Amino acid sequence: MHRFVQEELQATLDVEHVERFGQARFFFSASIHPIERFFRLRSPEKLYAVVLRQNALELPPWPDEREAAEEQLARQVASRGAWTDALRAWQRFGREGVQSFRVTAKRAGKLAAHLSSNGIAEFVGEALAEAMGWTVDLHDYDLEVMIHLNDEHLIACLPLLERSCQQAQLPFPGLSQPVAWAMARTVEPSPGDLVLDPMCGSGILLLEAAQCWPGAFYLGLDDDPKQLERSRKNSAVLEAAPCASLSFGRSDARRLPLKSSSVDAVLCDLPFGKQYGSEEGWAPRPTRLRTLHPFSSG
Ligand SMILES: C[S@@+](CC[C@H](N)C(=O)[O-])C[C@H]1O[C@@H](n2cnc3c(N)ncnc32)[C@H](O)[C@@H]1O
Repeated sequence: MHRFVQEELQATLDVEHVERFGQARFFFSASIHPIERFFRLRSPEKLYAVVLRQNALELPPWPDEREAAEEQLARQVASRGAWTDALRAWQRFGREGVQSFRVTAKRAGKLAAHLSSNGIAEFVGEALAEAMGWTVDLHDYDLEVMIHLNDEHLIACLPLLERSCQQAQLPFPGLSQPVAWAMARTVEPSPGDLVLDPMCGSGILLLEAAQCWPGAFYLGLDDDPKQLERSRKNSAVLEAAPCASLSFGRSDARRLPLKSSSVDAVLCDLPFGKQYGSEEGWAPRPTRLRTLHPFSSG
């Protein structure tokens, strides 16, 4: 996945260097202009403007007393962060100015184990209210400030985009869309290809692929009529072109109604666990799969 993220950030935002942190976080610098490029990204689930990022080992030593340590951290965040740039980026994502805000904090690790997440949020809230003139409102807020403190770093950031809310608008969500995008990216269907999802559920994998790789044809099968109904309702939300390239039908994946050598690629988020009753049941083994290769065009 990280290679795909890196490639997408480089190609879409002209980012030179992408720093990967852990399994799923990526840091990069990019110009905020033109803003539309950010809305085209498919791989990130969430996008934040980083106000402050400091190596935890380079932070001043924490006072032993919890509240004094939380106050020190709050002063650090309020005074040292790149607030002007981060707020400018935040506004470019369609927000008005800030009147009210809330702070959420997550603390983990051993280095600052005597600080509490709630205490950090409270002290940072007070410090920012004083420094910026904003009002704390935990429920009806314009801006959310997120603080992460662990053994690696102290981060303050502002959420810019959450893809599931921003782009999906699907009545029946399923697999996370960035994961669906990454799975489809492994195939990168070409125009004219037929791509099959033999257990399509609410169809997210194929919907995502149809939007990103137009020109191919997508067939979703499932043995549960309710799931197929969900797929159809989801695909009705798409624009006409990707919607027209999608078909759904009822079938048991163990007895596919397709000729051998008839599809170009198979994408599937396999069912497992209690929900699908397959804890001890069948699991598709390679020996059970038939070769499903290109349709002849005639
Ligand atoms: C993990 S879900 C797929 C989720 C899907 N990717 C989504 O985002 O909604 C697995 C699907 O497999 C279907 N399924 C389970 N066994 C099946 C079988 N033998 N033949 C066809 N579909 C099956 C279930 O009905 C379910 O919709």
